[in-house]
Amino acid sequence: DLLDNTPKPLAGKRAIVTSGPTREDIDPVRYISNHSSGKQGHAIAAALAQAGAEVLLVSGPVSIPDPHDVTVVNVICAVDMQQAVDRALPADIAVFVAAVADWRVDSQASEKIKKDKSGKPPALSMIENPDILAGVGNGKKRPALVVGFAAETENVVDHARAKLAKKGADWIVANDVSEENNVFGGDANTVRLISAHDDEAWPKMSKEDVAAKLVERIAQRFETVSV
Ligand code: CTP
Ligand code: CA
Repeated sequence: DLLDNTPKPLAGKRAIVTSGPTREDIDPVRYISNHSSGKQGHAIAAALAQAGAEVLLVSGPVSIPDPHDVTVVNVICAVDMQQAVDRALPADIAVFVAAVADWRVDSQASEKIKKDKSGKPPALSMIENPDILAGVGNGKKRPALVVGFAAETENVVDHARAKLAKKGADWIVANDVSEENNVFGGDANTVRLISAHDDEAWPKMSKEDVAAKLVERIAQRFETVSV
């Protein structure tokens, strides 16, 4: 954009962002999902692009528009999201904002499940989905900077640090969902930026402002650390 004179501290950097929920089919007409709107992940993808990064956004099903200047890969389920992320590597930065469904049904019915004459509901057998962040954070093609999100209702810092270690992330942005701030679908977010040795509480702000502040931190990190 010729009129865009803003600084481009992340020029030449490749970033991958996951956003939105995933949707896990039960049968051709039913699925399991969650209330993630994609607003926070999409705002981060837009802010990274604004800072000059080449951004690939892997998005689950959302009803918000694609961000500007970002390549979007639309996926439905966790397994497809993982495949899209793996295909997008290598990258310098990866930010995992998606609310990935933790489980899927272990065998999807190919026909619509009908009500049983006995009145018994179907027993859905579930299996765990792949942990996309952990696969990348602990993987061979690990980007220089790996950032995860975590929604917690209690012991926010302890739980976030445990996730940081387990998943091989550098930072976890912890959402405090215990507050009445209507995170899912809402426009504001109250987060803490947690690394192995630091813990910073940010004031309540819009999801766009969280994105801008996070990208500012990412740019600083690439300024001070040669990676
Ligand atoms: N995540 C992921 N793949 C999954 C589950 C989570 O990539 N299958 C990522 C999310 O995008 C987020 C981070 O891991 O960046 C933490 O997600 P969260 O749901 O808070 O953690 P879980 O490990 O699933 O633990 P739990 O839901 O039991 O708290
Ligand atoms: Ca989870």
